Amino acid sequence: MQDWQAFKQQWETACDSIAERSDLEKLKVELLGKKGAIAGLMGQMRDLEPQERAAFGKEVNGLKDYFTNKIETISQALENKQLQASLAEGSLDISMPYTRIPRGRLHPVSIVRRQLEEVFISMGYQVVEGPEVELDLYNFERAGIPADHPARDMQDTFFVDVQRLLRTHTTAIQTRVLEAQSNNLPIKVVCPGKDYRRDDDDATHSHQFSQMEGLVVGEGITMGDLKGTLELLAKRMFGESRTIRLRPSYFQFTEPSAEADVSCFACGGKGCSLCKGSGWIEILGSGMVHPNVLEMAGIDSSKYSGFAFGAGLERIAMLKYGIEDIRNLFANDLRFLAHFNRFE
Ligand code: DAH
Repeated sequence: MQDWQAFKQQWETACDSIAERSDLEKLKVELLGKKGAIAGLMGQMRDLEPQERAAFGKEVNGLKDYFTNKIETISQALENKQLQASLAEGSLDISMPYTRIPRGRLHPVSIVRRQLEEVFISMGYQVVEGPEVELDLYNFERAGIPADHPARDMQDTFFVDVQRLLRTHTTAIQTRVLEAQSNNLPIKVVCPGKDYRRDDDDATHSHQFSQMEGLVVGEGITMGDLKGTLELLAKRMFGESRTIRLRPSYFQFTEPSAEADVSCFACGGKGCSLCKGSGWIEILGSGMVHPNVLEMAGIDSSKYSGFAFGAGLERIAMLKYGIEDIRNLFANDLRFLAHFNRFE
């Protein structure tokens, strides 16, 4: 006769002594496996009288269920214990002192450049760059400034050799874009970049500076389009209540040409020291792309017209942030640069 009590007691003790998952797996095989103790009991059924089998089977099944549940419970308890242990081990002491890593910031000229790019990208413009070591052809010739032209004096130049120079203005990118897209009109681009001129550095001049060129060419482009575009630029960069005015001017690559002023954002136009009493601040040069410039790039000037502008990024940054000396923008003094926040 089987001693159920002793069997249960024996395996109960074995279960209660389990501390590791590997021991549990072993015990599971020994007790519930194909060749385990429970299977062994089942095997004994064959030797029983038929009338005894039902009661025996019931006992064995009861034990099987009991230990299956028990082992599952132990398994869960072990899992839980392991989780608690790994949580305790990996916990952070958030009160620990740490080494402060100063956050990087954008340079004010980069901030202005990105803001301008965002304004124009939002109007469907593409951003195009060009080489800083440029051919005389794109920097001067194609901009309507041939070799003997006195306007070359205004842009005293660093030459690399007879044909190559450090770009003196981003208008060089404009003439490249005109050529590259002469068969792919309309054109709507802004071209940011660094420029170089032989200049004596002082509070308002630097031999290195940055500009953003704008260029739109298509059928029926007018000065009205230019004015509307510049007005939007002024509002986005200097405040929604700004207006602009265009003053007649002269550039070799535009006809007519205009200097654009924005209403003074310090005094609102009444006149103050920033605008030198005039109520207006000059921000950029602009005009209708000269027909010769279109023709030199292979664009039919009787069919297409365009406007262009070029804005100095240091100048806009100085106006926006009240920076009085342009040299501050090139000295890379972190105490100075730490003041500027892209999201202001
Ligand atoms: N290239 C001129 C400069 O450096 C700026 C400029 C004026 C660009 C008028 C233009 C323009 O595209 O239309 O002073």
